[in-house]
Amino acid sequence: MRRIAFWSPKGGVGKTTLALNFAGAAYYAGYKVLVCDLDPQQSSIDVFNEKKLPFSVVPDKPQVMPNVDFLIYDHAPDINTIPSVETIIMPMRASVLDLKAINRCYRLVRDKTVIKCINAVDTRRHDERILAMKLFSEGAHLVKDRSIYVRSLSHGETVFQMNVYGARDAQNELNRLLSRVLSIGKEKVVNY
Ligand SMILES: Nc1ncnc2c1ncn2[C@@H]1O[C@H](COP(=O)(O)OP(=O)(O)OP(=O)(O)O)[C@@H](O)[C@H]1O
Ligand SMILES: [Mg+2]
Repeated sequence: MRRIAFWSPKGGVGKTTLALNFAGAAYYAGYKVLVCDLDPQQSSIDVFNEKKLPFSVVPDKPQVMPNVDFLIYDHAPDINTIPSVETIIMPMRASVLDLKAINRCYRLVRDKTVIKCINAVDTRRHDERILAMKLFSEGAHLVKDRSIYVRSLSHGETVFQMNVYGARDAQNELNRLLSRVLSIGKEKVVNY
């Protein structure tokens, strides 16, 4: 089982959006997934309550280890709760202030594999595009600003359930992130 935390000190950077869509990528690739909503705002639960997601979302960590391939944590924007996982996906916006905040909390998780995910990149904006490309060249994953992410979750679905213009590009972005996580190697869960 792999445990993946979507974690960032910053709020509103896409933790919930990416956690649910990453779960969608894994589910449609044939993996068993469970999303744990660890944020008191319970946004992932709100989406799940629309009853359209093909996987389950639970409001906290399960008491017993679930029989899944991916356990995905949607965290609250909180620097004090360090995720108890090996792999962290850290969403951020293509902004210098986000980068500084992220880099400051890097030392807290240096024993883990951390993938920076520059989310909602608007490539029409010069400064955003330049910073995103620089971070991409340093190994960050890029996810573009796409209305399909907003629309799909407001309907209670992931982009993998949408068959409209733009959905395929969004799916490809998430599939590339899944491939990257799969290439890391399987996590050994010692203490659940
Ligand atoms: N790639 C994207 N393109 C366009 N809009 C996006 C994208 N990612 C997220 N959003 C939008 O940005 C807003 C914040 O996203 P989200 O709720 O996923 O962030 P969050 O980090 O989970 O927030 P919080 O810290 O409050 O839990 C939402 O309105 C979401 O629809
Ligand atoms: Mg959230």
